[in-house]
Amino acid sequence: MTTTSPVLESHKKLERNVTLLGLFAFLAVTVGGIVEIAPLFWIDNTIEKVKGMRPYTPLEQAGRDIYIREGCYVCHSQMIRPFRDEVERYGHYSLAAESMYDHPFQWGSKRTGPDLARVGGRYSDEWHVQHLTDPRSVVPESIMPPYAFLKEHDLDAGDMTAELTALYRVGVPYSKKDLEQANADLRSQADPEADNADLLKRYPKAQVRDFDGDPTRLTEMDAVIAYLQVLGTMVDVNSAAAQEDLAKEKGR
Ligand code: HEC
Repeated sequence: MTTTSPVLESHKKLERNVTLLGLFAFLAVTVGGIVEIAPLFWIDNTIEKVKGMRPYTPLEQAGRDIYIREGCYVCHSQMIRPFRDEVERYGHYSLAAESMYDHPFQWGSKRTGPDLARVGGRYSDEWHVQHLTDPRSVVPESIMPPYAFLKEHDLDAGDMTAELTALYRVGVPYSKKDLEQANADLRSQADPEADNADLLKRYPKAQVRDFDGDPTRLTEMDAVIAYLQVLGTMVDVNSAAAQEDLAKEKGR
């Protein structure tokens, strides 16, 4: 018989003594558990707060729901990684805080189409209507499917108060008024005739206008474009103030 090393010998003892094995298994799981779970208690500190972030308006959120329903995320990511090629193509890399109110987040790992994290403001509403209706009419080589029906469907968002309440419960800081007004806000953001002063106070820099080119109707197209046009625009990442905040956060 070959001689075995002392380490193997003692391991043999450990494996054959159920109490000892149980004890060591418990210790291993405890250490692993602490390493995995403990950081979650400090998760609030792991996302740097940045100026400008606000929850989505009901209309933007309804557009986001359609974005998810239609599976836009199958082809589009929403996270610009901090690499030179990405930053030169898409703009400033995404900050963690920029998706802090996204449930579920849309980071994605598949890019059949371009990243959309900063598509807000890059094109006009008219371009989006045209592109979503018939992608190849504006980008001849596009392989994106058409979504012309969005303009035909009236927006049936359901009860936005219930939806925003669900988001509130998982940590999105909607105010009581935001929740109460949710269904009214949904309509007034896309209504150029509405008085949106109060909405703008609660959702700073929200874009209020008719998005789909048909002010007489509130369609799914209105909601999707309102959502696309806000992507990546809440935080002014390029302004000096934002840079200063970031530097401060990093030095902390
Ligand atoms: C089968 C894959 C696919 C799906 C699904 C898809 N897209 Fe696209 N998308 C593309 C491709 C490819 C491009 C680039 C060519 C073009 O502009 O049409 C693109 C481009 C875009 C652009 C322009 C981005 C830019 O920076 O130029 C927007 C906005 C966009 N898509 C929105 C959407 C929305 C909203 C949905 C869901 C309703 C969607 N896409 C679904 C493939 C897709």
